[in-house]
Amino acid sequence: MIIGVPKEIKPDENRVSLPPDKVEILVSDGHKVLVESGAGQGSRFSDDTYLYGAGATIVSDPAEIYGTAELIVKVKEPQPNEFDLIQEGQTIFTYLHLAAELDLLDCILKKNVTGIAYETVEDDKGRLGLLHPMSEIAGRLVSQVSARLLTNIESGVGKLLSGVPGSGNCSAFIIGGGTVGLNAATALMGAGADVTVADINLDRIREIDTLTNGHVKTIYPTPAALAEKVQRSEVVVGAVLVPGAKAPKIVSRDMVKDMMPGGVIIDVAIDQGGCVEDIRPTSHQNPTYIQDDVIHYAVTNMPGVVGHTASISLSNATLPYVRSIANNGVHKAITLDNSLAKGINTIGGQITYPALAESLSMTFSNLKDLLS
Ligand SMILES: NC(=O)c1ccc[n+]([C@@H]2O[C@H](COP(=O)([O-])OP(=O)(O)OC[C@H]3O[C@@H](n4cnc5c(N)ncnc54)[C@H](O)[C@@H]3O)[C@@H](O)[C@H]2O)c1
Repeated sequence: MIIGVPKEIKPDENRVSLPPDKVEILVSDGHKVLVESGAGQGSRFSDDTYLYGAGATIVSDPAEIYGTAELIVKVKEPQPNEFDLIQEGQTIFTYLHLAAELDLLDCILKKNVTGIAYETVEDDKGRLGLLHPMSEIAGRLVSQVSARLLTNIESGVGKLLSGVPGSGNCSAFIIGGGTVGLNAATALMGAGADVTVADINLDRIREIDTLTNGHVKTIYPTPAALAEKVQRSEVVVGAVLVPGAKAPKIVSRDMVKDMMPGGVIIDVAIDQGGCVEDIRPTSHQNPTYIQDDVIHYAVTNMPGVVGHTASISLSNATLPYVRSIANNGVHKAITLDNSLAKGINTIGGQITYPALAESLSMTFSNLKDLLS
């Protein structure tokens, strides 16, 4: 199969869908991989590494990639100036977010594209395996970001997370102990902070206690416990998720006003609206704003700034699916793998992902019926 890896063109996006070591595996499977010149630049993979190290074909014009490849593997949803390049009947495997991208949906339905969305690939236990790596990265980034924001130069409290002997360290409070929360907790603990996690799921807080040998403290998030922890912590992290819904507003403006001046809020859940009252999204170009003397960080695509790590981590998770599609053809790959089938959002001009059709009041077609 001919597989295309275009350069990502969305602002602040440094990832590439397939790093050279993954391309090498696909080439050794007998496939031809077209990589757009400069596609690996933001992740620090050179054209030469793709060409000489991995056996890719480097192409300078994205139109040639879209015009030749049967399978396009991307990171972000195609942007409006890529719509004309997409070919009739092509397969596109990427984060698609079609419920929010109506022009793209219209384009890929008209062109009978098989649209496979990373965000809806789901295993039998309901785990979203292609979102998980990005939550791991965002969680671990929390420690690095908060260490910087706590410094005087960022108008922070002027403290080291760990302190030094005799100075006292910082307290970090994480609301939501899922993938982001646990990764943030262990990274902050490793950096020397005192860490507490709150979660409404008692099994999860027991698990965190076991996993960290009790070094990360856990609490049940009653309003009183939340208010006390927010007030006493230099770093407050929003990491809740209610699947399929906007994030609940858990930290009120009054709680923020009670935080110490120069304290830091990192609302990772901002991509679902955020769990801090009135918080607004920020970008890597302008990542923070100060309100009520507290630094607010609410970047919606945190992993985009660690392109190298994020490209490797994402492609570790996507590669088995890419290989299966390339080796078996998309239809057989779907019938062999129920997780991949759940990723199919569109095929043959029809919407096959129930929640997408429902959210847009559009017609849903059963994937099995279409394939038979
Ligand atoms: N900003 C970014 O770049 C970025 C990157 C990755 C993930 N995220 C977002 O981070 C959030 C967390 O993702 P995740 O993968 O850790 O999800 P997850 O499902 O693994 O964990 C969410 C946790 O929140 C808990 N929770 C739900 N409601 C709660 C409440 N009222 N109080 C306390 N805990 C509550 C759940 O029990 C669960 O343990 C999501 O909104 C996700 O989209 C953002």
